[in-house]
Amino acid sequence: MANREQWGSRVGFILAAVGSAIGLGNIWRFPYMAAQNGGGAFFIPYLFALFTAGIPIMILEFGLGHKYRGSAPLTFAKLNRKWEWLGWWQVIVCFFITVYYVAVIGWSLSYTVFSLSLSWGEASADFFFNKYLNITDGPFNFGGLQWHILIPILIAYLINFAALYGGVKNGIEKAGKIMMPILFFMTVIIAIRGVTLPGAAAGLNYLFKPDLSKILDYRVWTAAYGQIFFTLSVGFAIMIAYSSYLPKKSDIVNNAFMTSFLNCGFSLLAGFAVFGIIGHMAKVQGAPVAEVAGNGGVGLAFVTFPNAINTLGSVAPIFGVLFFLSLTFAGLTSFISINEAAISSIMDKLNMERKKVVIAYNVVAFIVSLLFATGAGLYVLDILDHFINSFGIVFGGLIEVILLGWFFNLKSIQDHVNPISELRAGGWWIVTIKIITPIVLTYMAVMNLYGDLTKPYGDYPLNALFAFGWLAIIIVIAGGFYLGSRKWKNELVLNNNETSMEG
Ligand code: ALA
Repeated sequence: MANREQWGSRVGFILAAVGSAIGLGNIWRFPYMAAQNGGGAFFIPYLFALFTAGIPIMILEFGLGHKYRGSAPLTFAKLNRKWEWLGWWQVIVCFFITVYYVAVIGWSLSYTVFSLSLSWGEASADFFFNKYLNITDGPFNFGGLQWHILIPILIAYLINFAALYGGVKNGIEKAGKIMMPILFFMTVIIAIRGVTLPGAAAGLNYLFKPDLSKILDYRVWTAAYGQIFFTLSVGFAIMIAYSSYLPKKSDIVNNAFMTSFLNCGFSLLAGFAVFGIIGHMAKVQGAPVAEVAGNGGVGLAFVTFPNAINTLGSVAPIFGVLFFLSLTFAGLTSFISINEAAISSIMDKLNMERKKVVIAYNVVAFIVSLLFATGAGLYVLDILDHFINSFGIVFGGLIEVILLGWFFNLKSIQDHVNPISELRAGGWWIVTIKIITPIVLTYMAVMNLYGDLTKPYGDYPLNALFAFGWLAIIIVIAGGFYLGSRKWKNELVLNNNETSMEG
C-alpha cells in the first residue's frame, strides 16, 4: 500500500475544510432561513444545533478520519465490516449532490460575465427562467441541451478536475489557498458596501428582528438542524475523508471549532451583504423589504440579487462580478470536497491510483450533469436537492450518530482526540452525540417523511417526484448495501489501523 497522502500544513487543511463548509448554502440559504424562521430568534435554534450537533459531529468525523485514516466506507468498515454500507450511502449522496451542485456553479459563472453589462436588464426573472434557462413546462420535457449552460458547467468540472488530479497537497490544498482568501476579501467588500448603503438598516432589521413566537415552532428547529448539517458538510463523508489526510500531530478539537466558527461567521457576513443591498433596493423602489426580498435559493441569487444590483448605479457591474464570483468560488471549493469524498472512497476500495479514479469519476459525473443543462434542469435540481437533503443527509446522519453513539465505544474517539487537542471533548460531547442529536434527528427524520408522504413536495407530478426524488433515495440505500457487500481489492487496508500512521 502506498502511504496515504497528507496536507502540507495546518492552514492548508483548515482552508480546505472551511472551503468545503462555506458554499452555496452560506450565501443563498442562510440569510433567508434566518429571515423567514424568526429573524434574530432563529439564532437560538441555530446556535443550539451548532453546539449540540454541528461541532460534536465535526469532532467525531475529524477524529474518525484521523484515527482510522480512511474515506467514509473504509473508516466504517474498519469499525465494523457490517457498517461499511453507511459509508457508501454517504458517498452516493455526494454523487447526487455533485451532479446538480455544479449546475449552480455554472450559472454563477455565466452571471459573472453577464454582470459586466447587466445583461439581465429590468426583467431579471424573465431573463433567468426564459432566456437563460429556457425552462420547459415540466420535469419530463427536457427541451434539448442548452450549450450556453453546458459550457460553464464544463469549465467548473475542469477546475475541479485540475484540483483533484493534483492530489491533496498540490491540488485541493492549493485550490483552497487561492480561492478562500479571495472569497473572504470579496465578501467583506460586498458586506461593507451593503451595510453602508441608504436603506440598509431596513434590510438588516428584516433579517435580525426577533420573532420570538417562532421559537416554539418545530419547523424552525428542523430548519436550523438541516442548515447546520448542510453548511458544515457533516454527515456526508466529506470531513471523514479530509481528516484522513491529517498528519499524526493535529489538534482535532480546535480544528473542528475553528472550521465551524469560520463557516458560521461567514454566513453572518453573507447575511449582512445580502440584506444590506436588498434593504437599499427596497428604499429605491419605495416598497417594503418583505415585498422585494422574494424567496431564498435560486430566486435570491439569480432573480432578486440582479434586481438589487441594478440599483447600485455606476458601480453595479463591479458588485455584480464580486457577488457572482463569490458564489462561484464558494461553490467550487465545496464542489471539490464533495467529489473528493467519493474519489477517496473508490481509491480505497479498488486500491486504484488517484489520477485514474479522478478521470473516470469526473467523466461519469459530467455525463449525468448534462441533465441539468436541459430546459428541465431546474425542476430536476429542485426535486433532487429536496430529497437528498431531507432524507439522504438527515437519515444518513441519524444512522451515523446511533451506530457510533450506541454500538461503538465513543470514548475511544475521545481518548484519541483529547491528548492531541488543546480543547477537550468532554462529557458534553458524549451526551450530544449519544442523546441530544439522535433525539432531534429522529424527530426531524420522521417529520420529513410524514410531510413528504402526506403532502408531496412542490407542484410536481408524482411520477417526477418518484423518478428524480424517491428513486434517488432508493439508489442511495440499495447502492450503499451493494457496494458495502463487495470485496476490497486489497483486504490489507482494513487492518491497517491507527498505529501505522505516518508522523
Ligand atoms: N457545505 C456546503 C454548502 O454549504 C455543501 O454549500
